Formats: sequence, structure tokens, C-alpha cells
Amino acid sequence: MGSEPMRLFTFSLIASVAIAAVIFGFAGNSAAEVYSQGPKVCEECHRGETEIWQASKHAESFKKVHKDKKAKKIAKATGEKSMKRNATCVQCHYTVVRKKAGAKAKPAAGPSCESCHGASSEWFAIHNDYGGANVKVGEESAQHKAERIAGATAAGMRWPSDKYGVAENCMECHGLANPAVAGDKLAIMLDSGHPTVADWELVRYSQGSMRHRFYPPEMTLNAELSAAEAAEMYVIGQAAKLVSAVNAQGRSDSAKYNEFQEARAAAAREALGKVGAAAAFLAEPTADQARALVAAIQGQDLSAEVGAMLLAKDSYK
Ligand code: HEC
Ligand code: HEC
Ligand code: HEC
Ligand code: HEC
Repeated sequence: MGSEPMRLFTFSLIASVAIAAVIFGFAGNSAAEVYSQGPKVCEECHRGETEIWQASKHAESFKKVHKDKKAKKIAKATGEKSMKRNATCVQCHYTVVRKKAGAKAKPAAGPSCESCHGASSEWFAIHNDYGGANVKVGEESAQHKAERIAGATAAGMRWPSDKYGVAENCMECHGLANPAVAGDKLAIMLDSGHPTVADWELVRYSQGSMRHRFYPPEMTLNAELSAAEAAEMYVIGQAAKLVSAVNAQGRSDSAKYNEFQEARAAAAREALGKVGAAAAFLAEPTADQARALVAAIQGQDLSAEVGAMLLAKDSYK
């Protein structure tokens, strides 16, 4: 199930919205309220992934982080002193859940399934329909599966096969680059002691406690990345980091914020400077060029160039 969605990402978003509109009657306009339903709705079918998430810092944080002295100080400085009610903190620290459209939104978990795979209110029904009420997942026709994947994507699902999109999304929170957070709030957060991690690296942060890779043929094995896959992910992570850092610069007047973004950009530039295929991207570090780089290295083994930069497994978070 890992490879099929890939082909569909050659569709443009507009094409997939149009297809989804025809097949699912999905409106595809911004009027539809998109909201998260919380990790409980995924658990029924995704036990293994749920157990891993529950043991992770993303999940544990929900019961802990707001009690921290430093957290209270940062929250108070930005306005609302309760972290769970603070409009700035909730953007990155919580999954804000609604029971149904229009219902009250409540922080119900730390960062969770939908923080990475997309708020599910519009894609959930599509995800769980294999071609009618009586059709089981293994019985789905190839055509229906292709349509289902396109429809879910258009409705906001982020598939693991969208490797750049997944990395870009980590950077919004971990690069303090979430566009929903105002520049002046970012400045206050940093001045009140909010942590920054400039050397955040995707392989290190995704392949430790966060790793869930239950793919065929052995659906029960939480597989480690091969050397070639780790090298590919390293390059994708650095590209996403550079784009995020370049775009974030100047969003806030804060010197601390801009120093942080410069440090992220410099680290990513240094790493990618050792990767031949990244030259065109480095000359023009945009999301489009990053996606072109990701497409160009697809299936290649870059471990000879990248291997020495990969961190030791015992440093994985
Ligand atoms: C009723 C069962 C069911 C529920 C509920 C469900 N899923 Fe799934 N999901 C599946 C099945 C079966 C697959 C594998 C087939 C497919 O869709 O490709 C899958 C595939 C996925 C994949 C893609 C894996 C790949 O092929 O790369 C992701 C990501 C995912 N689900 C996330 C979620 C999230 C997040 C939720 C909750 C919002 C959720 N699912 C709820 C059954 C379910
Ligand atoms: C743009 C996303 C973002 C926003 C907004 C944000 N944080 Fe964070 N916060 C993070 C990330 C990511 C981490 C983990 C450290 C890292 O990787 O940079 C973190 C870590 C923390 C920590 C340290 C937790 C620990 O385990 O040591 C505290 C405390 C904290 N944040 C408080 C707050 C408060 C209070 C607010 C609201 C005023 C807030 N944060 C807003 C992204 C954010
Ligand atoms: C921190 C971001 C993040 C969170 C939180 C997260 N995922 Fe994922 N998920 C990923 C990434 C990244 C991959 C791709 C892994 C790979 O192929 O290397 C993935 C892959 C998957 C897959 C396909 C591989 C597999 O294990 O079957 C499914 C299904 C899935 N996630 C479901 C979930 C569910 C359900 C939750 C919540 C319990 C969840 N994810 C939470 C980032 C996340
Ligand atoms: C919605 C925002 C958000 C997204 C998206 C997100 N994270 Fe996080 N992550 C956080 C916050 C906030 C923390 C800090 C929690 C705390 O310490 O209380 C954190 C903590 C972590 C930690 C624990 C770090 C440590 O020092 O122990 C890891 C590992 C991690 N995230 C990996 C990832 C990866 C990999 C991705 C993308 C696949 C990702 N995160 C996406 C918000 C997010």
C-alpha cells in the first residue's frame, strides 16, 4: 500500500479536486469546514500506529507541557495564560477537535494522527469506502482505489507517499514557521524562553519513538529504513528545512527568530552542498524546486554522498 498513491501525485491538485468533485460530489470550495476528529477515530483500524503514537512525546505532552513553569510563563507573555486556551500555543501543541461541523472546538490531544496526515472531516468517509457498504478493503477494484486516493487527497489527506509534503509539515511546527501564528507572537515566545532546535533533522526525529512503518508484505513489522531510504529522507528533510527557513525569514522583527531561521538555512545549505543532485535547488530554494529535487532522486541510492552525514541510530529521538 506504500507505492500506489505515488503515481497519483502526478495529478495536479486542480485535476484531483475536479475528479473528486465528479466522483464524490465533493464541493472542493473553501466553504466546507475542515476540522480534526481526534486520534480515537483512527484507532479502530490502526492499532499498531496508535500504540506507537500513545507512547510518543507528541501524545504524552498533552498531560504535561501546560504544567511546566516555563510553559506558563511563555503563555502568559503572549496573552492567555492557559496554554490550552491560548490561540498561539494551540496551533502547534494540540489537536483541536470538533465532534461535528459547527460544534465547539476543543484541544483533545497533543500533536496526533491528523496533525501529520491532515484534518479528516472531509476525507474520512472517502478513506473508509472501498466501493460500497459490502466491499472489504482487499476486494476493492483498482479503479475505485485510484479514485479513493485522489478524492481523499483533494479533501485534505496527506499520504505518507507525499514525502515532501510530510517533511514540509513537520517544519511548520518544529521550524516555528506555522503561518497561522503571527510574527509578533513568535517574537514574544522566543523572548520568554520558548525552545528552538536549529539542528532538527528529519531522519533523527522521525525514525526513533515516532516511527510507524507497517507496510506489506509484513504488515506487522515496524520496519527500519534501508540505508538508501534514510539517505533519501535526509535530503528531503534538508530541502524542506531550507525552504521553510528562507520563507520564515523576516516574518518577525525578532532578532532571535531571524537568527534561528538563518542557522536552520545555513545547516541545510551545508548538508545539501555535499549532494550533487541538489545544485539547482540550492540556486533557487523554493518548494517547487524542492519537489523537483525529490522527484529527481526518487529510487536512487544516495548513501555514498549522504551516509557520512547521517546520525548514529542511538541519537534518534
Ligand atoms: C475503518 C478502518 C479505518 C479507519 C477508521 C481509518 N483507516 Fe486509515 N487505512 C485503513 C486501511 C484499510 C488502509 C490501507 C488501505 C488504503 O487506504 O490504502 C488505510 C491507510 C491509511 C494511510 C495510508 C497508508 C499508506 O498506504 O501509505 C494513512 C496515512 C491512514 N490510513 C491514516 C488514517 C488516519 C489518520 C485515520 C483517522 C483519522 C484513519 N486512517 C482511519 C483503514 C482505516
Ligand atoms: C510554531 C509552533 C509552536 C508554537 C506556536 C508554540 N510552540 Fe511550544 N514548542 C513547539 C515545538 C516544535 C516544541 C519542541 C521543541 C522543538 O522541537 O523545537 C515546543 C516546545 C515547547 C516547550 C518545551 C517542552 C518540553 O518538553 O521541554 C514549552 C514549555 C512550550 N513549547 C510552550 C509553548 C507555549 C506556552 C506556547 C504558546 C505561547 C507555544 N509553546 C507555542 C512548537 C510551538
Ligand atoms: C509526527 C507526524 C505523524 C503522526 C503524529 C502520525 N503519523 Fe502516520 N505517518 C507519518 C509519516 C512520516 C509516515 C511515513 C512513514 C514512512 O513511510 O517512512 C506515516 C505513515 C503512516 C501510515 C502508513 C505506514 C503504516 O504504519 O501503516 C499509516 C497507516 C499512518 N501513518 C497512520 C497514522 C495514525 C493512525 C496515526 C495516529 C495514531 C499517525 N499515523 C500519526 C507521520 C505521522
Ligand atoms: C502540529 C505541530 C507538530 C507537527 C506537525 C509535528 N510536531 Fe513533533 N512536536 C511538536 C511539539 C509541540 C513537540 C514538543 C512536545 C513537548 O515536548 O511537550 C514535538 C515533539 C517532537 C519530538 C520529541 C522531541 C524530543 O526532543 O524528545 C519528536 C521526535 C518529533 N516531535 C518529531 C516530529 C516529526 C518527525 C514530525 C513530522 C513527521 C513532527 N514531529 C511533526 C509539534 C509538532
